[in-house]
Amino acid sequence: MQFRPTSILVTGGAGFIGSNFINCFMSRNPGCRVTNLDILTYAGNLENLRGVDKNPDYRFVRGDICDAPLIAALLVEEKIDAVVHFAAESHVDRSITGPEIFVKTNVLGTQVLLEECRKYWQGSTVPDFRYLQISTDEVYGSLGDTGFFTEDTPLAPNSPYSASKTGADLLVRAYHETYGMPTLNTRCSNNYGPFHFPEKLIPLMISNIVNKKPLPVYGDGLNVRDWLHVKDHSIAVETVLKGGKPGAVYNIGGNNEWKNIDIVHLVCDLMDGSLGRPQGDSRSLITFVKDRPGHDRRYAIDAAKIRRDLNWEPSYTFESGIRETIAWYLDNQEWVAHVTSGEYQKYYDTQYGTH
Ligand code: NAD
Ligand code: TYD
Repeated sequence: MQFRPTSILVTGGAGFIGSNFINCFMSRNPGCRVTNLDILTYAGNLENLRGVDKNPDYRFVRGDICDAPLIAALLVEEKIDAVVHFAAESHVDRSITGPEIFVKTNVLGTQVLLEECRKYWQGSTVPDFRYLQISTDEVYGSLGDTGFFTEDTPLAPNSPYSASKTGADLLVRAYHETYGMPTLNTRCSNNYGPFHFPEKLIPLMISNIVNKKPLPVYGDGLNVRDWLHVKDHSIAVETVLKGGKPGAVYNIGGNNEWKNIDIVHLVCDLMDGSLGRPQGDSRSLITFVKDRPGHDRRYAIDAAKIRRDLNWEPSYTFESGIRETIAWYLDNQEWVAHVTSGEYQKYYDTQYGTH
């Protein structure tokens, strides 16, 4: 029997994937309450949620996942029966220059959330409960030219970001093994799509092409990532929440491997077309720069388990997804300007008062 959530707590719902998830989930699950807990770091933007913020079933709370009393109160007040935990520091390059906040948010924040959920779940009157941890394929480390990550691949993170996500996954495992908590854990590949902060590869390239700025490609540009459209990811998360086996891990991937340089070439060529520039114009902006330290060479997900057990399939082809994404960025230049300048914080002030 499928689990049917009635009131979910989403953490990090103002970020890239969390906001796409809320938009998608609320349109597919009318009547289910959604409480979005987000502290609004540089990466959190309430403009991503225009529309759903008028829905009476939606509530935004600005707060920290490390704030145990706040979480305890929200769980009770909203009679939460499912937690979907996206909140994190998510950018590898930032973790290299400042790892501490990654440990605080990603490891300690997850532990606080798990502990409050455990107490609530053990004493709760809600008939059923799920805790879903959103993780990454980066916990598995790096692959050579062949092979795929399965759910049984040993964890071998290489960056402070992926190490902190691994710490969180291990705590989730421990809460299931020790307390029997009904946890779920998803590990997905690189997402792309609307509302992606332009510090990550695809939106950064789009933004720099618009502004005719250099396109920094790390190292030899031959590192490989497996790209998944954020809407396909959102539906996969919903599918795992409703049908996943408590205690299980599910890999989520698009079976869509690209070398970085090939992605950059593709984005350049498509944008030359969209912007009416001569073919080759944007490629001339490509600048090879010093490699990222500890740069993982290749990620590739084996998503056979979620396909087989839960019948999930990605619906986007990369061809259509990347065109749609470029068009979204070109149509939403104001959004890009707001997130890069920090202007979007003003949206919070107009909606919720000055902070
Ligand atoms: P993001 O950086 O765009 O958003 C993170 C959100 O978390 C922001 O809204 C931020 O304000 C919020 N947040 C940060 N610290 C918080 C705190 N202490 N309390 C409450 N909220 C806090 O990240 P994203 O790309 O949307 O990633 C979401 C999740 O998915 C993360 O757990 C990430 O590790 C995972 N993931 C992302 C990708 C990807 O390609 N982006 C791939 C695999 C896994
Ligand atoms: P990124 O979007 O940061 O995601 P992740 O490191 O989590 O996979 O980077 C994707 C790939 O693109 C990665 O191999 C690093 C590379 N990259 C560049 O070459 N140049 C850039 O400016 C950025 C941000 C990333």
